[in-house]
Amino acid sequence: MGHEVQYILESKRLVWLVAVVFAVVIMFQYFEFPYGNVASSMFSMGQAQPSAGQTGQTNKTKASAESPKSSGNITIFNVSNHTTPVDTLGKGNNIGIEYSIPSNDSTTASPPPSSSASLTPPTIVNITVISPSTALDNNTSKPEVNASNLDPGDRKPATSENNPAMSAGESPVKQVPPVKAVHKRPIGDIVTLADMHDILSDNRASVRSMKPLWSSTVDQELLDAKQQIENAPVLNHNDRALYPPLYRNVSRFKSYELMEKILKVYVYKEGEKPIFHQPQAVLSGIYASEGWFMKHMKENKHFVTNNPKQAHLFYLPFSSRMLEEKLYVTGSGSRDNLVQRLKDYVQLIAGRYDSWNRTGGSDHFLVACHDWATDETRKSMNSCIRALCNSDVGREHFELGKDVSLAETYVRSPQNPLRELGGKPPSQRSILAFFAGQMHGDVRPILLKHWENKDPDMKIFRKLPSSKGNKNYINYMKTSKYCICAKGYEVNSPRVVEAIFHECVPVIISDNFVPPFFEILNWEAFAVFVLEKDIPNLKNILLSISNRRYLVMQQRVKKVQQHFLWHVKPVKYDIFHMILHSVWYNRVFRV
Ligand SMILES: *[C@@H]1O[C@H](CO)[C@@H](O)[C@H](O)[C@H]1NC(C)=O
Ligand SMILES: *[C@@H]1O[C@H](CO)[C@@H](O)[C@H](O)[C@H]1NC(C)=O
Ligand SMILES: *[C@@H]1O[C@H](CO)[C@@H](O)[C@H](O)[C@H]1NC(C)=O
Ligand SMILES: *[C@@H]1O[C@H](CO)[C@@H](O)[C@H](O)[C@H]1NC(C)=O
Ligand SMILES: *[C@@H]1O[C@H](CO)[C@@H](O)[C@H](O)[C@H]1NC(C)=O
Ligand SMILES: *[C@@H]1O[C@H](CO)[C@@H](O)[C@H](O)[C@H]1NC(C)=O
Ligand SMILES: *[C@@H]1O[C@H](CO)[C@@H](O)[C@H](O)[C@H]1NC(C)=O
Ligand SMILES: *[C@@H]1O[C@H](CO)[C@@H](O)[C@H](O)[C@H]1NC(C)=O
Ligand SMILES: *[C@@H]1O[C@H](CO)[C@@H](O)[C@H](O)[C@H]1NC(C)=O
Ligand SMILES: *[C@@H]1O[C@H](CO)[C@@H](O)[C@H](O)[C@H]1NC(C)=O
Ligand SMILES: *[C@@H]1O[C@H](CO)[C@@H](O)[C@H](O)[C@H]1NC(C)=O
Repeated sequence: MGHEVQYILESKRLVWLVAVVFAVVIMFQYFEFPYGNVASSMFSMGQAQPSAGQTGQTNKTKASAESPKSSGNITIFNVSNHTTPVDTLGKGNNIGIEYSIPSNDSTTASPPPSSSASLTPPTIVNITVISPSTALDNNTSKPEVNASNLDPGDRKPATSENNPAMSAGESPVKQVPPVKAVHKRPIGDIVTLADMHDILSDNRASVRSMKPLWSSTVDQELLDAKQQIENAPVLNHNDRALYPPLYRNVSRFKSYELMEKILKVYVYKEGEKPIFHQPQAVLSGIYASEGWFMKHMKENKHFVTNNPKQAHLFYLPFSSRMLEEKLYVTGSGSRDNLVQRLKDYVQLIAGRYDSWNRTGGSDHFLVACHDWATDETRKSMNSCIRALCNSDVGREHFELGKDVSLAETYVRSPQNPLRELGGKPPSQRSILAFFAGQMHGDVRPILLKHWENKDPDMKIFRKLPSSKGNKNYINYMKTSKYCICAKGYEVNSPRVVEAIFHECVPVIISDNFVPPFFEILNWEAFAVFVLEKDIPNLKNILLSISNRRYLVMQQRVKKVQQHFLWHVKPVKYDIFHMILHSVWYNRVFRV
């Protein structure tokens, strides 16, 4: 008996110790940030240590002894088992709608005890959901520049009511009934970049693609590639074109070399133009990524094979933009026929080639930039690796580790996609922050409300009056220090790549947005992430970044630029190769 008590005490101490170590590690990890507030954003969903000795049902009393773990000023909650409420809110400003989130054990997040030392979490936690616009009116969103103040209760839910799942980026809006997305991995509300790292490594560790029905030589090649990447010599990047701070782990980028050496792609010949096989139709505008990728893939001699038996990857060559353009009936409010078209295509492929059945489609991939594509491909092509511009890990079925965030690029001149490349050196960037755009979605109106005509350093506009070649807009991008990339109807925006293109440090305001090439790039090294709720504090956040730090980031933006450029003829490390690399990388790590 005494023994047991002793044991329990010891394991509790262990839990505590792990918690403290974890908090300290997190703290150091983000200490590099000179701007506490962003660091605090990172914390806000920080995952806790695995609770040792958690055996099923824990009751309230016991839970209270262990949770929440509090270390210094930082309180950490384990939120990986949150149940996202499935109800959708009605439109409008519903303040105070309450959800009950069952939480049997100590691992569930609860609002931190704000006033007292009483750490007893209620068994039922009621989260008050506040719609973002009203939240700001009501001062509920507290802009704190100190990493010390964490309040998960303030977080905005991911199940947004204002998601009519419509819009085509900046293009004329077509109304479609709201699509209810049921998140496979319920994570409370906002998924921060730090959470994404965790989810990605969880998924890498636990999720595998279907075991092939019969084996093939490519399986062994993939396994070998994986081994080589995992055992790549550390810091032995002999390629001077790669600047290590830009990457999560530049050693692992050996995968690129291996891709060039090994990868073979089979491109299906099936499918009729213009939805399939007609990249020329989509080489300009905001969906250009899918068109350029298709063009380069189809023309490629190095990677493409005509023998499906040799292929590690199978490309489904359709354009989500043309699918919408050709099949969507304006005003119909239904995308069923678009979804059906893709389903028919998969059936055709699966009936004709045994490569689909061999892996259940998990070595097949698609590249689609239209907002709707994420949802349209959700059923028939869910097993595929999907490169999608609408990479919303909170609301859409976007699976980190399998799906790939496709960079949205606004190509103005298909003849010369590099026109206007670059911008002023930092010393000639006199504007602190710039944004211009239409009032799509619910974040931009908040941005405008707080910053339009409020401050001479903050050039925050609605859509700029049109000018020849959009000179005005481009000049702002070239002469601003920070370019604000606020989400529109969906999480993605062409501004992220535009900013990099013009050497302006991107400031991403789009909760749940998985940035492009997330598998490989260390985005925090060259971009700023600001939570939507911190918009009122935007200027302070930017000002809290030291000039030294700014210069470092700007330099890195210039260095990472090569990965975001389309060339008429693809070159090493350009965006075409990087997209293909992301698909390849996910394929390798799922065998
Ligand atoms: C969170 O809690 C769950 C059990 O509810 C556990 O399986 C998981 O490992 C925990 N996650 C972390 C990061 O501690
Ligand atoms: C909680 O723990 C107390 C004391 O150990 C016990 O009396 C009570 O039955 C437990 N409640 C539940 C629901 O397990
Ligand atoms: C947070 O930390 C600071 C500095 O360590 C300390 O002054 C402050 O009292 C702490 N606040 C709380 C609530 O513990
Ligand atoms: C999360 O909770 C549900 C029920 O509350 C349980 O079935 C599931 O196993 C839990 N998941 C984890 C990872 O603990
Ligand atoms: C949580 O409690 C409910 C009801 O008490 C129970 O049905 C459920 O299995 C519990 N979940 C876990 C993960 O313990
Ligand atoms: C949570 O909400 C439910 C339903 O609205 C209510 O019955 C319950 O008392 C609330 N619990 C707390 C702790 O506020
Ligand atoms: C919000 O808070 C600020 C400062 O505390 C105050 O000046 C302002 O009037 C408040 N706004 C609203 C809508 O309450
Ligand atoms: C904020 O909202 C609460 C709840 O709706 C309301 O009671 C309060 O008066 C509001 N405060 C301000 C400053 O508007
Ligand atoms: C952050 O916290 C420190 C110490 O607690 C305090 O001196 C400072 O004023 C705080 N900064 C802001 C912006 O609140
Ligand atoms: C980086 O990757 C290499 C090769 O996969 C691995 O050996 C090394 O441990 C990694 N470094 C870190 C810090 O993860
Ligand atoms: C693949 O499986 C489907 C469904 O089981 C079957 O209808 C189809 O004929 C198979 N394809 C080939 C090429 O055998």
